[in-house]
Amino acid sequence: MAIDTTIAERPVPPKGRLSFPMLILRMIANPVASWGEDFYEEPAVLYRWLGLQTLYVMDPVLIQRILLEDAGSYSKQPLNDDVFGEAIGGGLLNAEGEEWRWQRRLAAPLFRAEEMLRYVPAFASVCTPLLKRWQDSGAGALQRIDRDMTGTTLQALQDTVLGAGLGEDDRGAIQEAGATFLFYSMWKVALTSLRLPPTIPHPGAQKMARAGKKLREIAQKVLASRNGASEGDDLLGRLVTARDPATGDAMPAGLIVDNVVTFLMAGHETTSQALTWSLYLLALFPDWQERVREGVLGLAHDGGIGCDEISKPTLLDAVFQEAMRLYSPAPVLMRRTIAPVALDGIKLNKGATIIIPIYVVHRHKLLWEEPLKFDPSRFSPEAKAGRHRCAYMPFGAGPRTCIGATFAMLEGKTILATLLSRARFELPDGELPVPLARITLRPKQGLTLKVIPL
Ligand code: HEM
Repeated sequence: MAIDTTIAERPVPPKGRLSFPMLILRMIANPVASWGEDFYEEPAVLYRWLGLQTLYVMDPVLIQRILLEDAGSYSKQPLNDDVFGEAIGGGLLNAEGEEWRWQRRLAAPLFRAEEMLRYVPAFASVCTPLLKRWQDSGAGALQRIDRDMTGTTLQALQDTVLGAGLGEDDRGAIQEAGATFLFYSMWKVALTSLRLPPTIPHPGAQKMARAGKKLREIAQKVLASRNGASEGDDLLGRLVTARDPATGDAMPAGLIVDNVVTFLMAGHETTSQALTWSLYLLALFPDWQERVREGVLGLAHDGGIGCDEISKPTLLDAVFQEAMRLYSPAPVLMRRTIAPVALDGIKLNKGATIIIPIYVVHRHKLLWEEPLKFDPSRFSPEAKAGRHRCAYMPFGAGPRTCIGATFAMLEGKTILATLLSRARFELPDGELPVPLARITLRPKQGLTLKVIPL
């Protein structure tokens, strides 16, 4: 008998469409709980309120227009600055125009697919201390998987592209400050959505400011520790030796710090959530866990998994992608129109807010059959070939697409394969996790699983 692999819809979307003020209030608590049932059935939903226009776009054709074909009519600013500015300033994620192009060109060589493959052994090695700790805890011990994945992905980033000598205290401080910053960020998203200045006092504002400052202090410390050893083809080395193509000037110290914080934050938290949700789904559906484990053990040789195997479209790949469909680690993209635009008959003024709720796109009833069913066969090469490129977009799309996408895929799959080949994961009794969007998508109360070392 076929086993039902449909996940429960939690939180349940509101039945009717919420008023804009109510939507903003719900969004502060959890954006996933603010999108009504109609969002999952309509191509787009437009809100007009007190002269503000906010368009939620779910139709892949319209998304392609916004992010690719007519990308020049839309800006990340001032939304991104209002929300993240305190921590990441004008770094790659936030920059626009020539400033962005320069930074992207500078970092791009580090993220070429050929470069990434040589990191596979390092991705596997970061699992060793974690597996040992799980082994020492005994079979069936409960483990906080979300925290373990955050620590592991931060270590992976440090050991590969970053080139930063972070101590254990630094890593702990980054995790804590990063989590605090993201936790209160929804207030800033609410303020910017209402066109209010981000400096208006709100709950957690001071904690956010302190967390942003802490992240920048760590970045500065890391940079100082590199003085005299600034060369090297890692991220820090490239930032320190970069020259502005127009002026020939070095990158200003503040902008280097902006980028170190950007990569520290963007480079581990999302992959950590992708791994957390993957392990949750595999614990929820043990038959799938066994199938993936069998596949992974078949790939391994000499105790490890090779670079070639990990980059192939295996079942492991399909499972990781399906996990990112159901639980998109970056659930929302935001833009603002910089000129009047017409999108499929919808006329928007300059300054209108565009929200692309990737979470909704990935569960949309017009795009996916049985959207709540965990079904990795959606990622077979044939199934993928027939799908619109913007119907599945965990890494965004267009020029501002994630620079770390290949890195994240290789890292995620290598860590998942290494953990599955050495341990079994089971759900303990109790509540199932509820997705909570805080820029990234995390389980509201964390994720605790029973881990049985093999
Ligand atoms: C599963 C893991 C990841 C997911 C789901 C993810 C998702 C995304 C998305 C959706 C964007 C586009 C944002 C927008 O258009 O507004 C983005 C941008 C970005 N990501 Fe990732 N990301 C992941 C991993 C990484 C990693 C590993 C790194 C670096 C090591 C990274 C660095 C960045 C940077 C710097 C940008 C800004 C790029 C630009 O604007 O040019 N990300 N990411």
